[in-house]
Amino acid sequence: MRLQGKTALVTGAATGIGQAIALRLAQEGANIVVAAHHDNAQAQAAIEELRRTGRQAYLVSGDVGNVADARTMMDAAVQAAGPIDILVNNAGVEIRAAFTDVSEEDYDRVLATNLKGPFFLTQAFVRHLRQRGQPGGRVINISSVHEELPFPHFTSYCASKGGLRMMMRNLAIELAPLGITVNNIAPGAIETPINRNLMSDPAAVSALLKNIPLGRLGQPTDVAGLAAFLASDDAAYMTGTTLYVDGGLLWNYAEQ
Ligand code: NAI
Ligand code: BGC
Repeated sequence: MRLQGKTALVTGAATGIGQAIALRLAQEGANIVVAAHHDNAQAQAAIEELRRTGRQAYLVSGDVGNVADARTMMDAAVQAAGPIDILVNNAGVEIRAAFTDVSEEDYDRVLATNLKGPFFLTQAFVRHLRQRGQPGGRVINISSVHEELPFPHFTSYCASKGGLRMMMRNLAIELAPLGITVNNIAPGAIETPINRNLMSDPAAVSALLKNIPLGRLGQPTDVAGLAAFLASDDAAYMTGTTLYVDGGLLWNYAEQ
């Protein structure tokens, strides 16, 4: 129970990686605020699952890419759950398109959700921590191997995740005097709804598996343990770092 007495806000926690992280943090003792895009059956089911761990679970909803929504969600979270110790910026979207076909609307949606959202939610979180007046706090961003690795046809996504990498590095320095650590988790290919199209295409999956040295797609639980570690005292001296959890995908190279 490494996170007893802590409270975490996890965005996009109604599905996929965010849901697994929320559950794992709860199993480690944390109370959870699920920040979901919409208050729907999926979000309610995630809350029920969290409550079965014996921890408190609360739901706030809104569009992370909308600054007013992000601030309202942070305020509502504090109102419901009390002081927040851990922010997991997990919500994200990707939209496939050839570079020449990318619309302004799709570009804006990807950048708003994946970069502007974490930026202003983290700002709201840090203002909250500063108001509390005691040092400490954890920011964990779910970026991607594509904060580093090119991904043709997903240029807006790569721009957002690359931006998240530099935001993390910058904030690690700027927020260190407040005792706040900031790190990224960069998953490889994980079986979640974001990969729905990929997973319904067996040829694409087998081509991808050839690039993954461990020979399988990752599961959300593969990522969740790392988030629990970064949220815990064991990671107290880590900040400004990206940790990859990708089955070896990123650095896979062999001469045939
Ligand atoms: P997912 O599609 O299940 O999760 C995305 C979540 O973000 C959903 O719950 C969705 O409702 C929420 N969301 C989307 N737009 C939102 C908005 N504007 N406001 C609030 N919430 C919003 O997929 P997954 O895989 O769990 O994605 C979670 C994160 O992991 C994303 O940031 C994604 O980029 C990242 N990631 C996923 C990988 C994968 O292979 N599944 C690999 C690397 C990174
Ligand atoms: C993307 C997935 C992709 C994975 C590995 C993630 O960031 O969201 O669609 O399968 O990276 O390329």
